[in-house]
Amino acid sequence: MSEKLWNSSQLRRYDLDLEQIPRLHYTDPKVDELISQNKPVLITGSNIINTATNVWTPEYLEENLGNAGHTVFLSKNHKFKYFDESKMLSRSNPMGIEFIPPTRKTRMKVGEFMKKLREWKPGNERLYLQQPLNNTIGPQLVRDFLHFDWDYLNSKQEKHKWGELTSNLLLISQEGNVTPCHYDEQQNFFGQLYGYKRCILFPPSDFECLYPHPVHHPHDRQSMVDFDNPDHVRFPKFKNAKGFETVVEPGDVLYIPIYWWHHVESLMRGGPTVSVNFWYKGGSTPFNQQYPLKDYQKISIMRNVEKMLLGVLQDPKEVGPLLRSMVLGRYTD
Ligand code: OGA
Ligand code: ZN
Repeated sequence: MSEKLWNSSQLRRYDLDLEQIPRLHYTDPKVDELISQNKPVLITGSNIINTATNVWTPEYLEENLGNAGHTVFLSKNHKFKYFDESKMLSRSNPMGIEFIPPTRKTRMKVGEFMKKLREWKPGNERLYLQQPLNNTIGPQLVRDFLHFDWDYLNSKQEKHKWGELTSNLLLISQEGNVTPCHYDEQQNFFGQLYGYKRCILFPPSDFECLYPHPVHHPHDRQSMVDFDNPDHVRFPKFKNAKGFETVVEPGDVLYIPIYWWHHVESLMRGGPTVSVNFWYKGGSTPFNQQYPLKDYQKISIMRNVEKMLLGVLQDPKEVGPLLRSMVLGRYTD
């Protein structure tokens, strides 16, 4: 392993029970064992993202990302909690939830973004560029991308019966930025290209410890718990969450299994970071479904029940009371 170029003072401090995610060489057969069990694993030594590792630096991206506008989030603090605009109340969406976004979503050319990063000083809004790679990216980046180790990626996709590759998100972060704890409904190969990020993962079975917002809320899939200042009265089971962490280095690829919770932070005082992820659809349910169901399949069922109830009740405020009267004293002990 390469020399460690960061120290623990660069990690934010949380009151969490954490163990290390296994770091395995890409040729180690245990990699496939863990992926097939939907467990996280840090894959080292591979060529997956070699043509971009320590190549897609902020300077190189400024030169080669292209001249289109890119999605940039602005935050008054270090947290960038994702929100789904389509679930917000608006004239075109009278069923939406009244909600004040915690960050500002805007578009910027990469040059403008980099200039703001260079000139940034405390008190300024923090910035985080999050742009899916698409047909606007410059030709040099396209070449680098085409030379990723697609043989390896495709072999994992096939072996583990994942669905199609849906997107690659490019993330250019300022040091110290945090993506708060959430889960995605896709399999993720998270590739670290430049700088260091700490990733804290929790299994889908920690659902009750992490208190996700209701599915109709703009913060759907995000934990309601603020790790910086957890409200143990509202969220008493948070203290029972058992996390798995690792710090990803340039060249590392972290497998974040579908429906696994993850919190991601760019190390403090570590300079900007660059990552690219690979999001794959989950496999389709086999005709011959095996029982008992996997934890993550139950999360999917809960999401569908929530969505269905909202569909028939029409009012989000009616969902909780109905579930309560259905469950209390009948399915509780
Ligand atoms: C992801 C993700 C956040 C980050 O790739 O699914 O949540 O800050 N990334 O890198
Ligand atoms: Zn995510």
